[in-house]
Amino acid sequence: TPVDIKAIDAEGMVAFAKKEGIDFAVVTPDDPLVLGMADAMEEAGVPAFGPSKKAAQIEGSKVFAKNLMKKYGIPTAKYEVFDDPGKVVEYIERENCFPAVIKADGLALGKGVVIAKNLEEAKGAVHSIMEDKIFGKSGNQVVVEEFLTGKEVSVLAFTDSHTVSPMVSSMDHKRAYDGDRGPNTGGMGAYSPVPFISEDERRFALDNIMKKTAAAMVLEGLPFTGVLYGGLMKTRDGIKVIEFNARFGDPETEVVLPRLKSDIVDIFCAVAAGADTRLEWHDFATLGVVLASKGYPGSYEKGYEITGTEQVD
Ligand code: AMP
Ligand code: GLY
Repeated sequence: TPVDIKAIDAEGMVAFAKKEGIDFAVVTPDDPLVLGMADAMEEAGVPAFGPSKKAAQIEGSKVFAKNLMKKYGIPTAKYEVFDDPGKVVEYIERENCFPAVIKADGLALGKGVVIAKNLEEAKGAVHSIMEDKIFGKSGNQVVVEEFLTGKEVSVLAFTDSHTVSPMVSSMDHKRAYDGDRGPNTGGMGAYSPVPFISEDERRFALDNIMKKTAAAMVLEGLPFTGVLYGGLMKTRDGIKVIEFNARFGDPETEVVLPRLKSDIVDIFCAVAAGADTRLEWHDFATLGVVLASKGYPGSYEKGYEITGTEQVD
């Protein structure tokens, strides 16, 4: 039943859950998690699936995530953190490191990463993120990162903070337009599984990235429960982390969950209770394509009806 409560309205959501006698909540989007929706549910006596506000920082703050990876030796791109726009531009100019990867610290509707080809683009990005504050407080700090090349793979895993159960791999396609010629988006489509990850690489990602990160969060006193999403890249120097999310990825979920044989409600409850989860998967492959309104990811008209899908085989 769709209800008229904003996704970020924790108070409204809790009041609804209490009124309706909801006995289990699954908190999935980034903003509510980072604002503490899972904590609010738990505090109100409604068991919830999803990380606490503190644990969701792994997605909510790029600075937090990068510092965590550095501290625990989790492979990721080299980086510097800045809170002064002048210093960022000075640094990029001095290092002459193009393309320059500039990331707003906080959540930015999946648009907080700019890959600047030259100084002019870098200056523009720094100006809009840190001075015009197009993403608000999310732009108080930025991370400037080494540009990595390689194929990307998304690894989602259920975790109760101690046990990490990986889902099948998938690959998101970030850029708009055919031939990857458009701007970066939240994702234009995905498929599962990815064919280019060997068993050794899969093992490496599980042990040295996903499990190590879950263990690091426990050591930091911020145990992470829910879905830990590793956005990874297979570079010439091995697999590295591009980003972590604190939730299922979109559009990855649309290709991963159809392959899940196990009952997802059982998994949610087991994760929330810290019990064992056993995941069973279908062998088939899945493919998902995103239909976006013209103009996406910039401004675009909403509310179009999608027709013709019945003609797709
Ligand atoms: P993120 O929101 O951090 O996942 O970044 C969005 C997209 O930007 C990623 O999926 C990559 O395609 C690209 N990207 C982010 N960081 C880097 C990097 N260090 N090197 C190359 N591409 C990157
Ligand atoms: N597909 C990337 C994300 O969900 O952030």
